Amino acid sequence: MTTPILELRHVDKSFGPIDVLHDISLKVHAGEVLCLLGDNGAGKSTLIKAMAGVFKPSSGELLMDGKPVEFRGPRDAQEAGISTVHQFGGTFPLMSIGRSFFIGVEPTKGFGPFKIYDRKKANEIAVKAVQEFGITRIDDGDRLIGGLSGGERQSLAIARAVHFGARVLILDEPTAALGVKEAAHVLRIVLEARRRGLAVIFITHQVTHAMTVGDHFAVLIRGAVAADFRKGERSREEITDLMAGGEAMAELEAEIEGHLTAQHNPPAA
Ligand SMILES: Nc1ncnc2c1ncn2[C@@H]1O[C@H](COP(=O)(O)OP(=O)(O)OP(=O)(O)O)[C@@H](O)[C@H]1O
Ligand SMILES: [Mg+2]
Repeated sequence: MTTPILELRHVDKSFGPIDVLHDISLKVHAGEVLCLLGDNGAGKSTLIKAMAGVFKPSSGELLMDGKPVEFRGPRDAQEAGISTVHQFGGTFPLMSIGRSFFIGVEPTKGFGPFKIYDRKKANEIAVKAVQEFGITRIDDGDRLIGGLSGGERQSLAIARAVHFGARVLILDEPTAALGVKEAAHVLRIVLEARRRGLAVIFITHQVTHAMTVGDHFAVLIRGAVAADFRKGERSREEITDLMAGGEAMAELEAEIEGHLTAQHNPPAA
């Protein structure tokens, strides 16, 4: 296989006396979606923060394109092409689409015209970028972020990260607060990012979402990689159990299902 775009080797992370990540080794490839799974508190967010320069690993190393890297902060990671999109897109409700698209982008990186904000040009570029990404509902750069749906905001943030050169896109539960249609929209955008050759790291608690877009799966249980497998190597049931921290969920699901059916079809008196 090709050199991973991002690799973790034996990464540990502790906060004072609390060990959160233990000996994590993981390879992330371009053009693939890696689903990071695990129950609440398993260490998923901590792991992506270690990748994104928010925390320095207590030990172990990070490699990009096979070469060791050290991020002094999120800015370093960002410059290396690692982009994290937070839930709700991390944008400001009262800002226009065009303006938010260019916020935080260094004018020195070849965006000279934006030293003085050029509204028309910014809107044009932003709308074009998001439309090329398949977000056709956004056609006016003057619209305010606050008027977009959760899924649209999330999609806009992803399109923006890709436009500005992200190579590794990290999404921490991007579909958690979304309805079915909005989630489907975000999943489609994730697949578009993959098609463009990005490595996507996707955290979700929803097994259906994971199975829809995932090429590669890593499951964390209490801060360690409990399973690392590729699409098709595990059944849906096995994945569900692993996501629940190794608990057997199938029986519980059947039980709940039974209760619900009984409620909907009460036995004739
Ligand atoms: N700054 C910190 N100091 C101490 N403990 C921390 C810190 N950050 C996270 N932890 C602990 O690390 C563990 C893993 O947290 P993390 O947020 O990575 O879990 P997660 O897998 O993202 O969970 P969730 O699915 O609920 O988002 C938790 O027990 C948490 O309390
Ligand atoms: Mg988390």
